[in-house]
Amino acid sequence: MIKFILNHNLVQLESIQADKTLLDYLRLDENLTGSKEGCASGDCGACTVVIAEPNSTGDSLNYKSINSCICLLGSLHGKQVITVDSLKASVETELHPIQQAMVDSHASQCGFCTPGFVMSLFSLSKHKVSVDRTVLVDNIDGNLCRCTGYRPIIDAGLSVLNQPFTDDYDKNSQQALDTLKSINPVQEENFFVPETASELSQLTQQYPEARLLAGGTDLTLGITQGLQTYEKVIYIGRVKELKQIAETNNETIIGAGVTYQECEDHLSREYPTLRNHLHRFASTQIRNIGTLGGNVANASPIGDMPPVLVALDASLILQKGEDKRTVKVDDFYTGYKKTVLEQSEFLREIVIPKNKVNHHLAVYKISKRHADDISSICAAFYIHVEAGIISSIRIAMGGMAATVKRATNCEKYLKGQIISKETLDKAKAEIATDFDPMSDVRATQEYRILMAQNLLERLFIEQGAEL
Ligand SMILES: Cc1cc2nc3c(=O)[nH]c(=O)nc-3n(C[C@H](O)[C@H](O)[C@H](O)COP(=O)(O)OP(=O)(O)OC[C@H]3O[C@@H](n4cnc5c(N)ncnc54)[C@H](O)[C@@H]3O)c2cc1C
Ligand code: FES
Ligand code: FES
Repeated sequence: MIKFILNHNLVQLESIQADKTLLDYLRLDENLTGSKEGCASGDCGACTVVIAEPNSTGDSLNYKSINSCICLLGSLHGKQVITVDSLKASVETELHPIQQAMVDSHASQCGFCTPGFVMSLFSLSKHKVSVDRTVLVDNIDGNLCRCTGYRPIIDAGLSVLNQPFTDDYDKNSQQALDTLKSINPVQEENFFVPETASELSQLTQQYPEARLLAGGTDLTLGITQGLQTYEKVIYIGRVKELKQIAETNNETIIGAGVTYQECEDHLSREYPTLRNHLHRFASTQIRNIGTLGGNVANASPIGDMPPVLVALDASLILQKGEDKRTVKVDDFYTGYKKTVLEQSEFLREIVIPKNKVNHHLAVYKISKRHADDISSICAAFYIHVEAGIISSIRIAMGGMAATVKRATNCEKYLKGQIISKETLDKAKAEIATDFDPMSDVRATQEYRILMAQNLLERLFIEQGAEL
């Protein structure tokens, strides 16, 4: 049985179709048609709803915006979902203050995107932070408007989010928290929600055909875009061991079920350049739910984190039954969308070495749009320069081969060289021998090689080369 709070009401679903999306459930089963379907692929934000769940200490609710079109219904177990349909009734005024601000700022024309913008702003309002233009724009990076233009929407957000208001969701948050905490582990036939790594490994062995679901931001596209059906799904989002972040003196260990939003601070404290990179990753809605583990296990050649992990020489802990093994990320991929993962084996943790003294991580993402777009090329360099000489360097690139790939010829050449124009020219020739990329809709082969060379030049400039 799946149990969650829908707006203010507790819902119990005796059995569910494992691959049913939240948006379909809301619109078709509950007749809550405020959330719109634009793209059904997480790109436009028209379907945005807000999820509330107990924070790590269990003393308050965390609110986050998500795309309901690519969220599977069963993953709501133990959470509260808030839809735009309920906002008006949660205040005594005619409209919710966020809706009123949208009206007052003339921030809606055709109105198709408006429910999504309202919910992204609603989510931000629950974070109780001071909101300036940068924060606001960052939080609506997953919402597209095709007719009004963003200026009035930003005006609406800035006008309402810095004036305190209270709605029924604030008033009832303790009650919602207590209800969510009282929801027990679930027993379901097709949609499994294990709570421990041991339960997860039993399920993956019992049902090797079941699909593993983390955030679902890749997996669910198979349903909405690929028209596939998944009869059995195992959701890893409540597995305690997979939701943990641990620090040792030398490593940061990130559970495979940890979302980007949850690990951003840890990663960017150690590697400051990652903060900007993570903000170029997808959108707020995707980062709120998508996991680092899903990005690794998905094995896309244009995933944004595998190049970083390979450059940092990170490792993966894989589990099958009670057995665990460690594999370098560099050795994890065996071909296009293929990995060394065996049947019933799952990714448990990602182990990232701590930053070494005077080493620098540079990450550059080339995509057609700044926000909410996947890479044409993603390059990561981990470099140590001492007295103008490169003493070590690891270079990994996505979008240049069927898997993330290291530029080993270029690395070998650069080791021991001085940072100079002459070195750069030779390194550019070497990096062209490392890759034989394909041409596709995102970039031609020539463009990809040229970009790899130009990103090397950018690295040299940032390292103080006089070119
Ligand atoms: C609109 C949009 C924008 C995007 N933008 C970007 C982007 O900018 N950069 C980028 O790199 N990606 C992007 N993505 C892709 C996606 O968001 C990421 O790859 C994300 O990290 C996937 O994580 P997830 O938790 O959602 O994985 P899921 O979709 O849940 O899983 C992905 C795959 O990994 C498997 N899997 C998940 N967890 C495990 C595990 N622990 N063990 C074994 N197998 C597992 C699943 O079975 C599935 O096959 C985007 C996706 C969308 C929809
Ligand atoms: S419908 Fe476009 S993001 Fe969901
Ligand atoms: S108001 Fe029409 S898409 Fe935004």
